[in-house]
Amino acid sequence: MKTTQQTLKTYLEVANNAAREAGTIQKKHFRKLNPSMINEKAANDFVTDVDKKSEEIIKDHIAKHFSDHAILAEESSANTHASPFLWIIDPLDGTANYIHGVPAFAISIALEIEGELCVGLVYDPLRDDVFTAIKGHGARKNGNPIHVSRSQNIKTSLIATGFPFRKKHIVDTYVKIFRELFNHVSDLRRGGSASLDLAYTAEGIFGAFFEYALSPWDIAAGALLIQEAGGITTDFSDKNNYLKTGNIVAGSKTIHTELLKIIQSNDPDYFRK
Ligand code: IPD
Ligand code: CA
Ligand code: CA
Repeated sequence: MKTTQQTLKTYLEVANNAAREAGTIQKKHFRKLNPSMINEKAANDFVTDVDKKSEEIIKDHIAKHFSDHAILAEESSANTHASPFLWIIDPLDGTANYIHGVPAFAISIALEIEGELCVGLVYDPLRDDVFTAIKGHGARKNGNPIHVSRSQNIKTSLIATGFPFRKKHIVDTYVKIFRELFNHVSDLRRGGSASLDLAYTAEGIFGAFFEYALSPWDIAAGALLIQEAGGITTDFSDKNNYLKTGNIVAGSKTIHTELLKIIQSNDPDYFRK
């Protein structure tokens, strides 16, 4: 399907308006949640009324403009009627931070067209920062072009990661990787919002980001940001299946290569992921 840049900009505009409306609700309730607004979906996996309301707002925007598009959103059952258009939405990425009052969370919205990521947006409502990407047309922060780190050296880089807190059985492998990496880099960060980690990597703040077992809504928009900011996104076997496996390594070409080497040498099962 041939899609013009103007059409992609229209999709991005709708995502932007939706994210800003959801962000207003998130700011309003931040650090003011009462316990009845928090529910445990599964062990160690929480959702708040704010996540749900945000998702409703975003879905309404999309449905209003593109009623035939399919939507995959974290807090709803999949609405995957046949459509070449699939919106992938995390209405509040960083829910644990949000619940505890840590000021690091974001809204992540991506659009796949015929299975290809074409539009991505990560919005940080507290800082009013919007990170956007359009396939083939670059990545931007608040309208200004961004680029992944130009450092050639992992030793002087900050590397971002997420702990496998919902998959405690992989913690031993994770710790092995962490130990080796810790000796090779300037320092490591665990921010608690994968989409923001990816946005900061696209901006060159972090040299790279890696995490196990994420969901498509955590990473779809951020992956496009990285690619359009001149970087690389792969799974742990250096392939393109990160949306399926949830295992992601993303960053500048040089740092991605070094990081992947460390992950693979410490995870003998990497070739299966
Ligand atoms: C989580 C965040 C976190 C990552 C988790 C994700 P949620 O998303 O991105 O950084 O470590 O694995 O599930 O649940 O807050 O939307
Ligand atoms: Ca998430
Ligand atoms: Ca979420």
